[in-house]
Amino acid sequence: ATALSGGVQAAFPEDKPVTMVVPFAAGGPTDKVARELALAMGKTLKQQVIVDNSPGAGGTIAAKKVLNAPKDGYTVLIHHIGMSTAPALYKNLGFDPNTDYEHLGQVADVPMVMVANKDLPAKNYTELLAYIKANASKVAYANAGIGSASHLCGLLFMSTIQQDMTTVPYKGTAPALTDLIGGQVQLMCDQTTNLAGQLKAGSVKAYGATTMQRIPAFKDIPTLHEQGLKNFQVNVWHGVYAPKGTPKAATDKLSAAIKAGINDAGYKAKMAELGANVPNDKNASPEGHKAHLKAQIDLWTPIIKKAGVYAD
Ligand code: MLT
Repeated sequence: ATALSGGVQAAFPEDKPVTMVVPFAAGGPTDKVARELALAMGKTLKQQVIVDNSPGAGGTIAAKKVLNAPKDGYTVLIHHIGMSTAPALYKNLGFDPNTDYEHLGQVADVPMVMVANKDLPAKNYTELLAYIKANASKVAYANAGIGSASHLCGLLFMSTIQQDMTTVPYKGTAPALTDLIGGQVQLMCDQTTNLAGQLKAGSVKAYGATTMQRIPAFKDIPTLHEQGLKNFQVNVWHGVYAPKGTPKAATDKLSAAIKAGINDAGYKAKMAELGANVPNDKNASPEGHKAHLKAQIDLWTPIIKKAGVYAD
């Protein structure tokens, strides 16, 4: 560590890598955003940003791991809309996303697509709906655990169409997608950051996007909204967090690296290729992140409580 004169250490010295904890399995959508961001942040921070995949319990294990890490700026969490749904889903969550973290900034907003194994006979959303109603016991829906984005999309979908399906939880939608292509599960709502390659290759059937407008990078996929699932919208926003009480010198430096990182040409190009949106500087700011998180918790809590779904 670089000790200043008089032995006072520089705040957040650059001699140690920063660990970015990812709440889902490697290779999945959150991991993709994390690794791209880590690369881009590393260009501004003198130190490396390394990724630590700590999956489980819909992302709450990783969230707690970061809360229990030293408050020195060297451990941060990247998490998505799951931070907004956890308070309603987990009665004994053990933390408050609004008050127990420093909100370092928003970094990506990712649309989802409802996809199926190629062998599913339904040719479009209307036929999919009929098929599910007629064959519910044969349609296994994959997600990444209660609190994941794929879980939220599935919860909304099943409660809207008034039809439950067997759900199979995974440690992330990377392993879930492997099983969907293999036919072990039939249906999943996943983020384009994970599906991009399969959508371009046509190795899965895409029934609809969870956005109000078609996804620019995947214009040939109609939205579920335009096919009759009115106003069906899930945008998977991602933010970066440090434990509350991390010194301002560290959080300022991390937030500045995040802002520079999401404006990095390589990061922006990769997100565009994967169908993801990068928030503008105002929304990406710590204030924008904190406000958006609170608004999202206020939005999803009554919806989840009405659906009567709990994780614990
Ligand atoms: C992942 O990275 O695997 C996804 O975010 C899982 C999910 O939230 O559906």
